[in-house]
Order: sequence, then structure tokens, then C-alpha cells
Amino acid sequence: LAGLRTKILGQKLHVYGEVDSTQTIAHNLVASGAPEGTLVLAETQTAGRGRMGRKWHSPAGKGIWMSLVLTPRIPVYFMPQLTLLCAVALCRSIQKVVQVDIGIKWPNDLLIGGKKVSGILLESSGEDERLKYVIAGIGISANLKLEDYPAELRSIATSLAIESGADIVREQLVQAFLLEFEEMYALYLDKGFAPIRLLWEALSVTLHRPIRTQTPTGIVEGIAESLDDSGALTVVISSGEKVKIYSGDIELK
Ligand code: BTN
Repeated sequence: LAGLRTKILGQKLHVYGEVDSTQTIAHNLVASGAPEGTLVLAETQTAGRGRMGRKWHSPAGKGIWMSLVLTPRIPVYFMPQLTLLCAVALCRSIQKVVQVDIGIKWPNDLLIGGKKVSGILLESSGEDERLKYVIAGIGISANLKLEDYPAELRSIATSLAIESGADIVREQLVQAFLLEFEEMYALYLDKGFAPIRLLWEALSVTLHRPIRTQTPTGIVEGIAESLDDSGALTVVISSGEKVKIYSGDIELK
């Protein structure tokens, strides 16, 4: 990554051809002493992981499949905030590099025209309620063509190249993301979640829209109203009551 302008993030770089998952590699690197900012990149993953136990389609050379090591000294229950921060940094960096109308679907999917173009998976290891480390896994469908997707994904997924009509220079986007993330992360550690929350709300395609989601206590349907201090989504249901959604996936209606 010649020309990378960050202080820490990505300064230790591990690039692979094929791996099972960059997440697994990053966890192993931490176990052998890798510091904060260590970045793992792979051309392809044979067992890319998505949120909620799903698989992540990672064809060779077509996307950005990466994992970033972070060691924030924050309580475990702040993890959702970090996830939202990651989405904000990723969305802003894509906006700087590619001409597309991109937004965030709660909590951290990036959508263009309602189709998913990028996903984020945070995996952490904690001790005594404090985080030891976090691996931020990021998948960006950069240069995939429609035929690169399995049939079942074609109506719900898209790529930056499909949407912008231009080839994406992956190194440029990785550098832009690392720089944006480093700035957001410093802001967060200094000032807390409030400024990140405002940025997230401005980029959201979820707020003020009807949504539906499955929670441990049943289905919640209503209008997504706002994000709270912890990163939970507040939904107003038909009775007027407010319900908070802390994790999982939502469906935009
Ligand atoms: C999601 O939207 O479900 C999250 C997808 C995260 C995919 C990335 S690709 C790089 C990193 N390695 C993985 O195995 N997963 C993440």
C-alpha cells in the first residue's frame, strides 16, 4: 500500500492469495503478538464468514476481503458502537473514491439502491468485561460482475463496479478506508459515540422507514426512529410505543 497516510492502521500488512477466512488469520496473528492496526488482506477466501453464521461469497481478485486488528480499551458492551463506527468510516471512504449513492442499513450493511455492496463482521475477545481485542472484518464487493454472483444473490447484492460503471482500484479504496477509520476511531476514543452517532444517522437509509425484525420476544414492525447512545435502533410500533432493537438484522419494507 504505497502512499498509505495512516499512523497505525495498515502499517503492518499481511497479504495472502487464498485463505479460509482473513478473520481466522487475524485471530492467529494476534495470538502471536500482532499489534493494533495489523491488516490482513486476501485475494480470495474459501470460508468467508458473514454475520449470524452466514457465508460470505469472496471470489478471487474481485473484492476487498480484509480484517483489521483493534485493541480499544473499552467495555465489551461498547462493541455495537464500534460496529457502527466501522460502517460510517467505510461509507465515507467509498463516497470519496467512487461515484455512487451509498447508505447504511442498520446496523452496518452498506446498500446501493437497496442492494448490499459491503458487509462488516466484528469478532472480539474480552476479559473481565473489557475488550482484549477486536477483529473488524470487512468485505467490499468492488469489481464483481453480475455473473460472479450465485443466482440466489443476484437480486439482493451488487458491486461498486456494477453501480458506478467503473473499475475500482482496490488499493486506493483500502487506503481511503484506513485513513477514514483512523480519524473516526481517534474521534470516538476522544469524544465518545455522540459525534459518530450523528454521522451514522446522516448516512442511514434505515431511519424514518418502515422496518420489520425478529427479536427474541417476537416480531417487531414499525418505523425506525433513531439510534440511541448505545447504538441500538429505536422503533416506533403501531401502538405508539418505542421498542429498542439491540442486535440481529432488520428488513426494510
Ligand atoms: C456480513 O455482512 O454478514 C459481514 C460480512 C463480512 C465479510 C468479511 S470479508 C473479510 C472478513 N473475513 C471474513 O471471513 N469475513 C469478513
